[in-house]
Amino acid sequence: MTTASTVVNLAIIGCGGMGNRHLQGLAEYARSVAGLPGHAIFNLIAVSDPNAKNATLLADTALAEFGHRPAIFANPEAMFDAVPDIDAVDITTEPRLHESLSVLCLRAGKHVLVEKPMALTVAGCNAMMAAAQAANRVLAVAENYRFDPLVRLTKALLDARAIGDPWMVVDASIGSGGQIVITPWRHKRLYGGILLDVGVHNVDLMRYYAGPVLEVSARVALLDRVRKGLRPQGGVTGAPASPGAIYAITNANAGMPETMEPDVEDTAFSTLRFEAGMIGQWTLSHAGHAQGFGRKQYWGSEGSMEPAPPRSGTGPRVWRDGSSDPLTPEAMLSRVPGFAVDASTARLFGGERLASYHLDPVAIDCKIEAAVLSDFGRAIVTGTQPEVGGIEGRHAVAVVNALFESSHLNAPVLVADIEADVPAVSAWQHAIDRDLAGG
Ligand SMILES: NC(=O)c1ccc[n+]([C@@H]2O[C@H](COP(=O)([O-])OP(=O)(O)OC[C@H]3O[C@@H](n4cnc5c(N)ncnc54)[C@H](O)[C@@H]3O)[C@@H](O)[C@H]2O)c1
Repeated sequence: MTTASTVVNLAIIGCGGMGNRHLQGLAEYARSVAGLPGHAIFNLIAVSDPNAKNATLLADTALAEFGHRPAIFANPEAMFDAVPDIDAVDITTEPRLHESLSVLCLRAGKHVLVEKPMALTVAGCNAMMAAAQAANRVLAVAENYRFDPLVRLTKALLDARAIGDPWMVVDASIGSGGQIVITPWRHKRLYGGILLDVGVHNVDLMRYYAGPVLEVSARVALLDRVRKGLRPQGGVTGAPASPGAIYAITNANAGMPETMEPDVEDTAFSTLRFEAGMIGQWTLSHAGHAQGFGRKQYWGSEGSMEPAPPRSGTGPRVWRDGSSDPLTPEAMLSRVPGFAVDASTARLFGGERLASYHLDPVAIDCKIEAAVLSDFGRAIVTGTQPEVGGIEGRHAVAVVNALFESSHLNAPVLVADIEADVPAVSAWQHAIDRDLAGG
């Protein structure tokens, strides 16, 4: 049985870009968090990836970070046979495999941390939640943006009515036209597609700030029909300048085409209604050539707010009626006297009540991944729910799928009709589930 000083033997499944970033998060966790009372101690003992080059890269980096080399396997079944004392797995594969791998690992009795999006469809999420319940194991989704301490401050300010009663939101991001976004699979329908891959972040933050989404009315489109592969010059040498620098190696290991033809929509325009009464406009497009566009803003009965951009170090900005200047950091903090981040986040970022921080992008990424791991460890040690579990992960998947369902039905859809055990709306997702089952 787990205790306050539990050592959690961990395996990483999926050794590409995010597998490497989670490894850096583990290293940061070991440096900054693992000694805190009641926190798990993660011990990376195995990695699995059919791409032997990626698996070897991750194992070599782990050796350099931790002084011992995790065992390498091509698949999780062989890994569990050879290393039976694995307690937990961290699944960082492409989303197409999240459901099947999570169910396999939960049935093998392992706690699971799985990257976002939780699965491609609500049915996939439901299968994962049922497996976690049957096995009595933790199922956590590595939805990292909300673990930023400045996102925590944004939420505290909204809860403290810094803009009065919040009543509307605009969330718009348009960019990445013409290029393959990070990896080719992000433009394939049976791997989830770019709107799901990115959109779950937007939904999770909106849910965090404004509560669950009630209804979605949307139009989706596939605009950019040919995308070019990114061709990094050389490999990564010395310290990486950005968390994404690792893709120069992992994409070379996997192979990057000159061009590809996406088969899934890259653009969504939508109107949202939230259960708590707010209304919103959400635009997400990866077909924006040349000039990108991005803005997020909340308005309420007494003011407006730009939430903190996650992973930037920049705090939220609050404007109150009667002043054209945003509140100073001190004025913002004085509105939330009880606000403090948890002990591990405070240790990672250097304070309980930050209104900004100054760290390079790689350090920020490591620390936020460490905070995600800290919450996963807490859930394992205490036998409680992780902050982002099945309910939260599934809601994000459901709302993104609602964009497609609504657009194809040419009508608004209720998210509850998509999330129900027997969904009233499921045509788009049903076709994906059917095609996935067919291979
Ligand atoms: N939260 C974030 O900020 C963030 C950022 C990037 C990616 N992600 C998520 O991380 C996940 C992985 O994305 P990525 O960019 O690292 O992709 P990637 O293509 O770089 O890596 C995926 C890895 O999984 C491996 N893999 C494939 N099949 C496997 C199997 N059966 N068993 C084990 N490994 C297998 C691949 O060989 C590859 O090494 C996705 O779900 C993505 O959405 C999250």
